Amino acid sequence: MSAPTPRVALATAGEVPDLDDEGRLLLAALRERGVDAHPAVWDDEAEDWAAYDLVVVRSTWDYAERVAEFLDWAARVASLTRLQNSLAHLRWTTDKHYLDELAAAGVPVVPSLFLAPDDAPDHRWLEVEHVVKPAVSAGSRSTIRLGDDDAQRSLAHVRSLQAQGRSVLVQPYLPEVDTAGETAVVLLGGEVSHAIRKGPLLQRGAGPVDGLFAEEEISAREPSAEELRVAARAMEVVAGLGPTAYARVDLLPTPDGPLVLEVELAEPSLFLDTAPGSADRLADVVVARLA
Ligand SMILES: Nc1ncnc2c1ncn2[C@@H]1O[C@H](COP(=O)(O)OP(=O)(O)O)[C@@H](O)[C@H]1O
Ligand SMILES: [Mg+2]
Repeated sequence: MSAPTPRVALATAGEVPDLDDEGRLLLAALRERGVDAHPAVWDDEAEDWAAYDLVVVRSTWDYAERVAEFLDWAARVASLTRLQNSLAHLRWTTDKHYLDELAAAGVPVVPSLFLAPDDAPDHRWLEVEHVVKPAVSAGSRSTIRLGDDDAQRSLAHVRSLQAQGRSVLVQPYLPEVDTAGETAVVLLGGEVSHAIRKGPLLQRGAGPVDGLFAEEEISAREPSAEELRVAARAMEVVAGLGPTAYARVDLLPTPDGPLVLEVELAEPSLFLDTAPGSADRLADVVVARLA
């Protein structure tokens, strides 16, 4: 008797029920490997998660405003079948407070000040150009860039996020991104696969993004040795939670070297379409997890 065909769900958002382009690349690569792979909308009540051998989180970009519901879903899926990345990774990565943990472990990160929903505003950052964003955020939503003369707007944005019960993250705006862009290092099965350059996203005086995510300007990039070293140090911390199928470490350039902006283990775009062979590599990792 031959082994039953494994079934894999690629979890996505209701607004992109058929996945994005790279999700469809992964879907095709899995099917080429004999896997019965399907997109599945994470908050679709009718979805039978237990019917899959593995659920891979991919384009669930709408979780940021309801992270508790998302993590409850992930916990339920993890109790019914295998989940990639794991529940522990999803809990860790969805709240940018992990930047404090990385800093404590000696990983260079973008200087970050967190305000809980009931914390009094802290005026320290108002004298420099800075960024205000939710601690739980995705797709640059609710993220704004403010000048050193924008105190009122800044405080208003902090308060409006706090009023929604959200913790707030304030960072200095790192201006080198305007010319050099951001570097995203993509790891598949824990190994560096490829990297991209992402153009700057935040304009002075602009309001927050509406829609699922900000339009991004992406191109393939050869990461520097220093960027690879910092990404590897961040991934050492992540490895403490177990192996990842996919990960993306985003780095901002500074005159003193790259700093970690974000470690994305939930629903990062992996820019598989910029790196020939990468969808096949990820499919191989997924198939290995099925064994
Ligand atoms: N401190 C910062 N300095 C410069 N640019 C920033 C900073 N924080 C965020 N940005 C810009 O905003 C974008 C979104 O912020 P990010 O922290 O990556 O949140 P998200 O989880 O929403 O992707 C980044 O890709 C970058 O272009
Ligand atoms: Mg980002």
